[in-house]
Amino acid sequence: MSNLSKKNSDIDFFKKEEKVMLGVYKQLSLSVISAKGCELITNDNRKILDLYGGHAVMPLGYGEVNFLDSVNTQMTKLLFQSNLLPLEIRARAAENLLAIAPDGLAKVFFVNSGSEANENALKIACLATGRKKILAVTHGFHGRTAASAAVTWGAKNNWYGFPTMPFEVEFIPRDDLSAVKNMINSKIAAVIIEPIQGVAGAYDLSSDFLRSIRQKCYEASVVLIVDEVQSGMGRSGNYFAIQNYDIEPDILTTAKSLGGGIPCAALITTDYLSNYLKVGDLGSTFGGGPLACAAINAVIESLSKNKLLQNVKMMEKEIRGRCLVGPVKNIQGKGLLLGLVCNRPATEIQTELLHRDILTGTSADNNVLRLLPPLILKSHHIDKLSDALASI
Ligand SMILES: Cc1ncc(COP(=O)(O)O)c(C=O)c1O
Repeated sequence: MSNLSKKNSDIDFFKKEEKVMLGVYKQLSLSVISAKGCELITNDNRKILDLYGGHAVMPLGYGEVNFLDSVNTQMTKLLFQSNLLPLEIRARAAENLLAIAPDGLAKVFFVNSGSEANENALKIACLATGRKKILAVTHGFHGRTAASAAVTWGAKNNWYGFPTMPFEVEFIPRDDLSAVKNMINSKIAAVIIEPIQGVAGAYDLSSDFLRSIRQKCYEASVVLIVDEVQSGMGRSGNYFAIQNYDIEPDILTTAKSLGGGIPCAALITTDYLSNYLKVGDLGSTFGGGPLACAAINAVIESLSKNKLLQNVKMMEKEIRGRCLVGPVKNIQGKGLLLGLVCNRPATEIQTELLHRDILTGTSADNNVLRLLPPLILKSHHIDKLSDALASI
């Protein structure tokens, strides 16, 4: 053990944070000091297989050389400039994003977080339609700012925190086709959906439900916002989960994996909706900064160069084939956004797995354990998970 890790091992990071941070997060008692590939290294030298990936943020894993080179080079060349000045690297990031986005999307707006992307998407829908009501789907999660929390299932009676809603909201019961028919009409500005409901436990909405929402939105001129903050950037085995259903959104939002660990987010929309916006309608100081754009370019390049979409599909197959063991009774979701439906509370399984040096996520569904690992996951990682599950 090095001197550094000896010194660090005396420190419980949980206790350190507890003294000075707002106690708003439920934290695990794991003191991580570095990471490589899919592994976290703790201050007492444990190597933990990371199947949580910083909450779906690390598509390339930790320490990918080309990614770090691109970010370091950009940092040295031009760390930051605001949107007052046009930048080649920003234009390139938007071009790269549009090249992998669903058909019909033509314009990009960069922001800093998933919530902010959804906030702006909802604003565009209200501006463009002049309507005041938004529909979301039960069990969906869209963020914690005023508008994005307003469309998050359960927030109002739990943690919403603002005195009023920014608009009227109703929730379509998930997978209820007759509700889609009855609720989407010409009074609605937008419907916002997560094709795979991440926080809800990687629950994949039925293709019939998704397609009928798309159809009804076309009929009533309602803006369809597809939130791919968690499911996007290759995680579903396609660049965006909605591409698995051949559905063209009017607005798509993405974040988390987008910057490979550098905080950033994007909203992508159609030429048609972009015509409703003029100078000053939207803005962000840090959105589209050169460092974030270099990170976005490096992530997109690596997804294709390292054939990560194919890898995601292969690893999903292996997980489905080998991890239906021990407490796991069913597997839902797509690609590497999977929910292991367990026969007892997921927190118990999470603790058991952590004792076996595997980090996983829980979800809003008590019995669903969530996997959101780096997209570079390999078969030997799945061996480790499947052996651990079998031993519980
Ligand atoms: C589907 C979805 N939308 C929006 C958000 C909010 O993103 P952020 O935390 O970056 O604001 C999240 C975060 O978990 C999410 O999963």
